[in-house]
Order: sequence, then C-alpha cells, then structure tokens
Amino acid sequence: MNSPDPKNKETVVNIRNANQNDLDAIHQVLSKGFNALRNRGYSMKAIEAAISPPKLIQDRLGLSEIRVIVATSKDQVIGTVTGTKRFGHLHIQSLAVDPRFQRCKVGSRLIMKLEEEARQTNCRKLFAQTAWAMFEAIKLYWRLGFSLEGYHPGHFWGEDLLSFGKIL
Ligand SMILES: CC(C)(COP(=O)(O)OP(=O)(O)OC[C@H]1O[C@@H](n2cnc3c(N)ncnc32)[C@H](O)[C@@H]1OP(=O)(O)O)[C@@H](O)C(=O)NCCC(=O)NCCS
Repeated sequence: MNSPDPKNKETVVNIRNANQNDLDAIHQVLSKGFNALRNRGYSMKAIEAAISPPKLIQDRLGLSEIRVIVATSKDQVIGTVTGTKRFGHLHIQSLAVDPRFQRCKVGSRLIMKLEEEARQTNCRKLFAQTAWAMFEAIKLYWRLGFSLEGYHPGHFWGEDLLSFGKIL
C-alpha cells in the first residue's frame, strides 16, 4: 500500500465524516494515540477505556446526535474525533492522532471541524475532558480558545480529569 509520509510537507490531509468502512482504522488510531501515554503514569484501565472498540464506533455512527470525524492521508485514517450533542452543547470525545502525524495541526483541524458543525446546528458550547498526562491535549484546547472549567479528582478509573469548555 502507498503509505502517507508525515515528514513530507506536501502531505495532503482530508477531514471528513467517518463511515462503516473506517471502523477498524479508527480503532487502530485510537489505540496508537492512547497507548503512547502508557509511560506517563496514566492507568492501563483508563487507557483501555479510551480505546473504543469497532462495535462502539459502529453504534455511534448510527446515532443522529453523534458525529464521528476522521482525518485521512492517502486514504488512510491518521486521526479521529467524536462529538455528541447534548443539552445544546457538543461533547468532544475519542480524540487521537497517529503519533507519526502529531504536531502537524491534524488534531486542531479535527476540533475545528466539530466546532463548525456545532455552530451550524446552534450548539452553544464545546465541552471536553482530559487528564494531566495528556499535556498535548491540554495545550491544544488552550490554543483553540477553550477555558479550564473544572477539576474532577479520581473521576475516570481513578484518574483526575480536567474539563475544558468553549462558549460559541
Ligand atoms: C492531543 C492530540 C490529539 C493532538 O493532536 P496533534 O495533531 O498533534 O495536535 P496539533 O498539531 O493540532 O497541535 C495543536 C497545539 O497543541 C499543542 N501541542 C500538541 N502537541 C504538542 C506537544 N507534543 N508538545 C507541546 N505542545 C503540543 C501545541 O500548542 C500545538 O500548537 P502549535 O504546534 O502551534 O504550538 C495528540 O497529541 C494525541 O493523539 N494524543 C494522544 C491521545 C490524547 O491525549 N487524546 C486527547 C484526549 S482528551
């Protein structure tokens, strides 16, 4: 297969809605992204819980209030994010970028796509939860104009979580 080259500045990245053919690839990219956090003191249970299995991703694709987005390069999935509409806000989950493609703005583009979707459907806010171990995500949310809204000790398999929000 013709693999995308992350070092090539000309590499074209597309952002689109996911479909049924993407289930395994989305699972793989979540696995690569979250397994990279293993040596940061973030518990295995929490890492495993963040890696959605293909069946869960399939169920999400069937729900009108959920949007699963992928970033692709040369038709390979290199990043993903999911947004769920609830009570007039969009909850961001399952954000990961293949480590080979990180720091190339793929994560930012995925969140911006969800923000565009949220604005078009009259959501008033974006909401996300992250952990201290995910310093890249914390920086990304700051960078995109989110504010720290809360701190939840021992919230997710014993891990402390931070909540970030952006009023639209
Ligand atoms: C979080 C994640 C999705 C970011 O994806 P990404 O494509 O690398 O992010 P971007 O290139 O869009 O980076 C946006 C900003 O985030 C910050 N950032 C991202 N990676 C960083 C790093 N390794 N070091 C420092 N800052 C970083 C920077 O401020 C960056 O902007 P800049 O490059 O202009 O300085 C990716 O690191 C990842 O998959 N992590 C593992 C899974 C995870 O933690 N998911 C989040 C769950 S809440």
